[in-house]
Amino acid sequence: MSEPDDLFSFADSKTARAPEESAEKRILELRKLLEHHNHLYYSQATPEISDAEYDKLYRELEDLEKKHPEFHDENSPTLRVGGAPIEGFQQIRHAVPMLSIDDVFELSPDAMEKSGASRPEQELIEFYQRLRKNLGREDITVTVEPKIDGVAVSLFYRDGKLAYAATRGDGTTGDDITHNVRTIRSIPLELKQRALADPASAEPPTTLEIRGEIFMPNEAFAAMNVERDEAGLPTFANPRNATAGTLKQLDPKIAAQRPLRFLAHGLGAYDGPELETEHDFHNLLDHFGIPRNQPLFTVQHLDGLLDAVAEINHQRHQLDYGTDGAVIKVLSRAERTQLGFTSRAPRWAAAYKFLPEQKETILENITIQVGRTGVLTPVAELTPVLISGSTVSRATLHNQDEIDRKQIHIGARVLVEKAGEIIPAIVKVTQPVPGASVFSIFASVNGQCPSCGGPISQEQGFVAWRCTNFQCPAQAVTHIKHFASRKALDIDGLGEIVAEALVRHKHCVTPLELFSLTEEVLAPLNLGTEEAPRRFGEKNATKVLKALDDARSKPLNRWLFAMGIRQLGESAAKELSRLHQDLTEISTSPILAELLRDTRPDAKKKNELLAKYAITGDVGPAVAETVISYFQSEAGQQALQRFAELGINPASDNYLPIPAEGDLSHLPLAGKTFVITGTLSMDRDEMKALIESKGGKVSGSVSAKTHYVLAGEGGGSKRDKAEKLGVPLLDEAALQAML
Ligand code: IVH
Repeated sequence: MSEPDDLFSFADSKTARAPEESAEKRILELRKLLEHHNHLYYSQATPEISDAEYDKLYRELEDLEKKHPEFHDENSPTLRVGGAPIEGFQQIRHAVPMLSIDDVFELSPDAMEKSGASRPEQELIEFYQRLRKNLGREDITVTVEPKIDGVAVSLFYRDGKLAYAATRGDGTTGDDITHNVRTIRSIPLELKQRALADPASAEPPTTLEIRGEIFMPNEAFAAMNVERDEAGLPTFANPRNATAGTLKQLDPKIAAQRPLRFLAHGLGAYDGPELETEHDFHNLLDHFGIPRNQPLFTVQHLDGLLDAVAEINHQRHQLDYGTDGAVIKVLSRAERTQLGFTSRAPRWAAAYKFLPEQKETILENITIQVGRTGVLTPVAELTPVLISGSTVSRATLHNQDEIDRKQIHIGARVLVEKAGEIIPAIVKVTQPVPGASVFSIFASVNGQCPSCGGPISQEQGFVAWRCTNFQCPAQAVTHIKHFASRKALDIDGLGEIVAEALVRHKHCVTPLELFSLTEEVLAPLNLGTEEAPRRFGEKNATKVLKALDDARSKPLNRWLFAMGIRQLGESAAKELSRLHQDLTEISTSPILAELLRDTRPDAKKKNELLAKYAITGDVGPAVAETVISYFQSEAGQQALQRFAELGINPASDNYLPIPAEGDLSHLPLAGKTFVITGTLSMDRDEMKALIESKGGKVSGSVSAKTHYVLAGEGGGSKRDKAEKLGVPLLDEAALQAML
């Protein structure tokens, strides 16, 4: 391989040349160089030049390409940032079907007892025995490697160039995701690049189809989520979801910004020199600079196989991607052919799925945490044990039901497990304390929130105990985050991380305190830790302050929703803002008071009220109750005072408490004409009354003026006519959704 210095001075030698004369040559050189450095950086993790040096080469190529569009090449490294969005996904029929692998499971003690197996690896041993039987030999050499928890893809190289990339789909046909895959720098776009370092290399085959996984490394995934959160974007549940979601995007610029990686693990269509073993295949991958999955073990007999899976189980927690198993493959390709396939999967491979590791320990104590939404969560404090590569000293107990079901009590010996990325959990009590009673959440906190001493209650239909104090400091981050979210006041730049830092550094407990923030407080705000500080910065501070200023004039409904009053969702907020001019009026609302009074079983009076104000189902006695009691509570009174001090009194932008006779424009079906046909769950007149009460009109016959045909069972001719005229057909569920 050339020396790094050589490579870079070679890059700089351009000054010696007349630019025009050698533009093409230089462009080709730069493309090779950049791909070479991409490979070192992304696939080998052994960069030879600094980021600045890389950027310099990159910009030089970009400039030259701009000046010389005649040398355009879609495989240029500069196009990795993503071209134009595609219209929609094309389907690609795989040259060779993408099969799955049969799973064999590590057995739990319970499963072993049930099946009479003598070892947890029983199913793996049986797989090996099937290989023996089918090949008629005792020792069969197999490879063992981690199973990558990613998204399976097929990369098709024609004459050494990436022709397309496709998802597995149904195994026969997948989605064309070439536009996104081109942005993944660990995937070579051309297979000749490695020749730069190895001039004696063979030419790539005409057809080479590589199978592998695209994934996000765990650390990069975590960093990306932090960034998204700061930008106020939703975070992803796990690296696999994030990867799949990214590959489904039509715009490749999105994939270009996400930390996607690729590792090869299999071969599809191929017409190069014969490959005798998996090792030959790996040499081919290495030769062309295609990154492959590691660690890889090659074992000659059953004992070796059992050792190798144990070793992978041990090492897997150190890998930078998620894995829950090992893949075992027969080494010799001739033997694979001999073994063949079942209808779904090859007989020469298996995926061995590891059990989540379990250990016994003592449940020393149970503490109660107040979550961000006020939920009281019991947490088991354990004598520390080492599980799956990390020390576990706490485990969630979820809720009282779970505690009752598992008869959890302090002092018991318990079995603990850590499955995948999930936090540790208690599987069961293995040795109870004689005579001990099952733990009670309510009793342990004397009926009070352990964070603020406020009242706790169990909402109807929910098992969770919850602190109902709006001012509870444990819920500050949740309240601030909700307040700043898109659908609330849309404070750009204020996500969970920033909210957390503001609360941690005691700048805010309630959302309204955000309005006292200044640039002097915000800019130096440390989002990181003491050891690794990270400044929020002037630019972000200015952005947040500007967004807060804009929020002052946002309409009443957005403010109501932002305040996070229980039961008050977006639609209820909208309806309340139709009924009131501003926040002050809501805080002493006669309408809400009447609505609440009208919970008395005086149906007539209640209906009169609903009719007078044409109140939709979004606001009823339950909402009236929480809103009234919020504004009467200490927290509500303080909030109102703060609003007054700040000079903010959000005003309604849809105020229309008593719609003029016949003015139904605020109702959900206003201006829409329906035709009813077929058999429905209620009789025609009832349905007609329902539609009319929501502002719609019901007509007897379908015409071009009909907006919807509500069709039950049957309903022949009107249904046909609707279809002919292109009038949408609704079923009752769809109508309900509109209401
Ligand atoms: S070999 C005939 N090796 O898991 C298929 N697959 O559950 C041979 N996978 O379809 C595939 N890591 O998408 C192989 N190291 C690995 C793998 C791996 C993940 C995926 C692959 C496969 C699926 C089967």
